Amino acid sequence: MFRKVRITSVLKMSLAIVLYKENGESNMKNSGRISKRVLQLKKSAIHEMTRLSKEIEDVAFLSWAKPTSDTPEHIKEAAISAIRNGLVGGYSENAGIVRLREQIAEKLKRDNNIDATISQILVTVGAIEGLASSIMALIDPGDEVILPSPTYSTHIRQVIIASGKPVLVPTIENENFALDIEAIKKAITPRTKAIMYCSPSNPTGTVYSEQQLRQLAEIALKHNLMVITDEAYEYFVYDNASHFSIASIPEMRENVVSCFTFTKTYAMTGWRIGYLHTGEDIIPQIAKAHIPFAICAPVISQYAAIAALEGRQDCVAEFKKHYVSMRDLMCQRLDGLDSVFEYRKPKGSYLMFPRILLDAGKDSTTFCKKLLREAKVSTTPGIAFGPTGEGHLRLSFCVSEEMINKAFDRMEVYFHNS
Ligand SMILES: Cc1ncc(COP(=O)(O)O)c(C=O)c1O
Repeated sequence: MFRKVRITSVLKMSLAIVLYKENGESNMKNSGRISKRVLQLKKSAIHEMTRLSKEIEDVAFLSWAKPTSDTPEHIKEAAISAIRNGLVGGYSENAGIVRLREQIAEKLKRDNNIDATISQILVTVGAIEGLASSIMALIDPGDEVILPSPTYSTHIRQVIIASGKPVLVPTIENENFALDIEAIKKAITPRTKAIMYCSPSNPTGTVYSEQQLRQLAEIALKHNLMVITDEAYEYFVYDNASHFSIASIPEMRENVVSCFTFTKTYAMTGWRIGYLHTGEDIIPQIAKAHIPFAICAPVISQYAAIAALEGRQDCVAEFKKHYVSMRDLMCQRLDGLDSVFEYRKPKGSYLMFPRILLDAGKDSTTFCKKLLREAKVSTTPGIAFGPTGEGHLRLSFCVSEEMINKAFDRMEVYFHNS
């Protein structure tokens, strides 16, 4: 059981800029065979929690950032007819089917205020492959990449696997995990090559404001840095927040790679389809990394993506409506556990990142494993999102009302009895 000792103040935690290194699996027997690049990576805490959760019957599952809805019918139907019409048996252009890129260019103009031509677009295997290929194309061994933190753990690993150095710059928790512009300026060294962020954020649900992103753009232009964005949750912003794409600033055209996905917007996780936009000169270089990893994005998914963009958009509004009401429910249930968690109401994504107020929360991995074993609630330890995430856990509200209530009913009993 947990000992209830309150950590008195968030501000007492020392939040330093961290040149991050992972220790990986140093005790692996066949370490002579496996590359140092891969060996240094730790196993993903998210996947570890999923594995442990499977061992527990009737678990209340709040640890996945995956839409629980199915892909809308008209998108599935378009994929089925593409199969029937014999369109999916071969490769497409490496950069993606022209009709899809035309649709993407229209969407970028309409929703992101980014002027794009099809030669500035690369269709990728989800946002993840777009981000990975961009990092491979832009980062040399030893180059530093600034990541406002806590941040999506995959971004950190993508930098490490390219032999780059992640520089984790803490965000300001008291201001709903806003960017710390001054700290970012201080983190720049002659080795800094890029700044990589996701907004809306995984894991905090923060939406970086236009004003802050304009300040970030000034820094990037002054030091000639690339900005790599992950805008996976672009449509899921709530209250008075709005999503701003930094590539919409005309001066930034040559300094940004913007990565997007169909995964979240249209509940298409398993289709593995996304895209990126950047300057025309950079696209062929990123394509040189994309081809050896993927050749092209799955063709069947490209046809599904065309249907997603050409079809009606009411599914996106429905998902958003569901997420906002699940967010409100989760916040309300967290209010009932205010001696255990302190939270910032997320303005975007479908994730939130409460601080654990109990002494046991200082080690978020042990805390989350105990919570899973003893209360049958699956969450993700904050340390999975970098050292600045320690002392927190990530909760996902892209689940049903029943799931949230089940998890919080259990936690209420558990914490009140402990
Ligand atoms: C911030 C962020 N980017 C990217 C992804 C994955 O995107 P995709 O499925 O398009 O590769 C996730 C999934 O959880 C995410 O949270």
